[in-house]
Amino acid sequence: MIRVGVAGAAGRMGATVCEAVEGADDMELTGRADPALGVELTEILADCDVVVDFTTPETALENALACVRAGVHAVVGTTGWDPAPLRSETGANVFVAPNFAIGAVLMMRFAAEASKYMAKAEIIELHHDRKVDAPSGTAARTAELMDGEIPIHSVRLPGLVAHQEVILGDVGQTLTIRHDSTDRTSFMPGVLLAIRRVGELPESPVIGLEHLL
Ligand SMILES: NC(=O)c1ccc[n+]([C@@H]2O[C@H](COP(=O)([O-])OP(=O)(O)OC[C@H]3O[C@@H](n4cnc5c(N)ncnc54)[C@H](O)[C@@H]3O)[C@@H](O)[C@H]2O)c1
Repeated sequence: MIRVGVAGAAGRMGATVCEAVEGADDMELTGRADPALGVELTEILADCDVVVDFTTPETALENALACVRAGVHAVVGTTGWDPAPLRSETGANVFVAPNFAIGAVLMMRFAAEASKYMAKAEIIELHHDRKVDAPSGTAARTAELMDGEIPIHSVRLPGLVAHQEVILGDVGQTLTIRHDSTDRTSFMPGVLLAIRRVGELPESPVIGLEHLL
């Protein structure tokens, strides 16, 4: 059994991860950390093999460092922070993904491929209005993987979950690649896969679900 703790357990994503871990036969939920629950991450680390972090851009690095220094592997879904300082850390592994949905990973791959052949592209990312970072981590990562300078437009509205359109243009034609997460459960197979694999990564940090597929 993999002993799993969740940082940000009272949040939208964290609560969904807690349910997914409780539903997995090979995992045990051993801790829920969140200021909203009055539980610090440091209080649960001793009971965990892996911590899943869906918190805020301000806390993700500090949390990942606390995990690694305690010998606990970390799976981080929080977006809008820079994992570079983790490169010099040893002791445990960190896996980071700006998007854990398989469809979004495929969208990024197809967009990267298409950008080699079409003249220009722009990204429109659309999310619920309580998302704190813009542009989204998925949009920033997509732009990084594509050829050329790619402008990103961010839409924040109630009613949305997580959506992205990559529009490529060339003479007399456009190509649109679109992904929609209509429910947070879309991210859970990717999160569970990362929990199972984070302990055996060849290096750390590893960024992007495509590395586990
Ligand atoms: N990678 C993905 O596939 C993916 C998918 C959806 C959302 N996200 C990202 O996940 C993050 C969380 O999103 P959300 O919608 O669940 O946000 P949310 O605001 O609902 O939840 C965040 C939770 O983190 C808690 N928190 C704050 N500081 C903490 C700390 N130091 N330790 C533990 N918990 C702490 C907050 O109290 C809150 O309950 C965002 O960065 C979002 O962009 C990633």
